[in-house]
Amino acid sequence: MRFITVLLGLFCAAYVPLGHAAEPAAKTDPAQAQAIVTKVCAACHAADGNSPSPANPVLAGQHADYIAKQLADFKANKERKNPVMLGMSAALSPQDMKNLGAYFEAQKPKTRAAKDPALVKLGQQIYRGGIMSKGVAACASCHGPSGAGIPAQFPRVAGQYAEYTVAQLQGFRAGERANDPNRMMRAVAARLSDAEIKAVSEYMAGLR
Ligand code: HEC
Ligand code: HEC
Repeated sequence: MRFITVLLGLFCAAYVPLGHAAEPAAKTDPAQAQAIVTKVCAACHAADGNSPSPANPVLAGQHADYIAKQLADFKANKERKNPVMLGMSAALSPQDMKNLGAYFEAQKPKTRAAKDPALVKLGQQIYRGGIMSKGVAACASCHGPSGAGIPAQFPRVAGQYAEYTVAQLQGFRAGERANDPNRMMRAVAARLSDAEIKAVSEYMAGLR
């Protein structure tokens, strides 16, 4: 039954696009974003979105619409709360968010190697095949076999710092991060153990 719910979620996600798909695509101005990036974002995420510290997620190559949605969610401070990003998003207009999304999507993500080969094997199994006995859907079914994601609703996860990914999965599991449409990620994370979260995060860090 749970598995069917996940399948249904997938089906709905594929056919009910988020955001403003019915409207013509808004124009974006990455050059306008550059000024904000240089002044504000670069300090933590680097000017090219390849953050040098695992405390701050990599933004390079992430889908523009996903970035804009996260910035709006941080600003709303309800379903995704983070004190740092609340401050960073407070002054941004919806157009700024779109511009910033387009800017970071255009940056080239650096590849990263997984650090712990022992964890990678289990991580790969979970990522590609899910966990049948627990009704955990394969991550690849939504985030793509190479972790590139599927615009607009399924974010890129390849090459992200494992520390950040672990924190997000724990956040979804605890329901602290609740900005996933149709509870897609909360349903998945609820059934993952700490060891499984660590393994799959390590595997995704090395994906390219
Ligand atoms: C002081 C450091 C800092 C600055 C400056 C900063 N960020 Fe962040 N950013 C973070 C941290 C830390 C997180 C992770 C938050 C969490 O754990 O949910 C984050 C998360 C994000 C995310 C979510 C990424 C994802 O994969 O879901 C986006 C998008 C983002 N930042 C964009 C920006 C933009 C755009 C700016 C400039 C306007 C900016 N950030 C400035 C620290 C910073
Ligand atoms: C049914 C589709 C679906 C499945 C299966 C799925 N995800 Fe997700 N995932 C999503 C969606 C949708 C989001 C974006 C939520 C949002 O808009 O903030 C997401 C977001 C994430 C994020 C946050 C990315 C970031 O940059 O903050 C991580 C990490 C993640 N998923 C990992 C996984 C892992 C690991 C698995 C497998 C165990 C998995 N996902 C399976 C749909 C899915």
